[in-house]
Amino acid sequence: MDIGCGEGKLSNFLAMALGKEVCGIDISDFKLAKAWEVAEAQGISHLVQFIQGDASHLDFLADKSFAAIISIFSLHELENPRKVMKELRRVLRAKGRLIVVDFIPGARLKSCGAKGTMPSGKSSSC
Ligand SMILES: C[S@@+](CC[C@H](N)C(=O)[O-])C[C@H]1O[C@@H](n2cnc3c(N)ncnc32)[C@H](O)[C@@H]1O
Repeated sequence: MDIGCGEGKLSNFLAMALGKEVCGIDISDFKLAKAWEVAEAQGISHLVQFIQGDASHLDFLADKSFAAIISIFSLHELENPRKVMKELRRVLRAKGRLIVVDFIPGARLKSCGAKGTMPSGKSSSC
């Protein structure tokens, strides 16, 4: 499951790359319509399912129904991320994988002290 899938870029990519069924959930009908368009154009609509829903109320999904859940840059937009995490835990199978990639709004990055070279040849640090 791709929670907060938006226009389904990741859902469609995963379905295409892995040949596995992927369910994308987002609150925006408009974005999901775009996700469907791309899935159809790519010939993978049999592998994807896009459902309009609120991530904090996934009552339309059974307990332990997903082997893996991914959330990319969506959690920071949610009103109640704790409630969402509880729901994700409920629908995730035992030993399933939950991957969250996000940022904390307003957080400031600290330097980790690493230095390197960019492909442009310029030096960089982080
Ligand atoms: C920054 S976008 C990221 C979209 C996608 N994961 C990506 O990386 O392209 C955040 C998404 O979260 C969705 N969203 C916001 N609140 C939501 C909610 N309560 N339930 C489900 N999706 C929500 C928005 O509609 C939006 O598509």
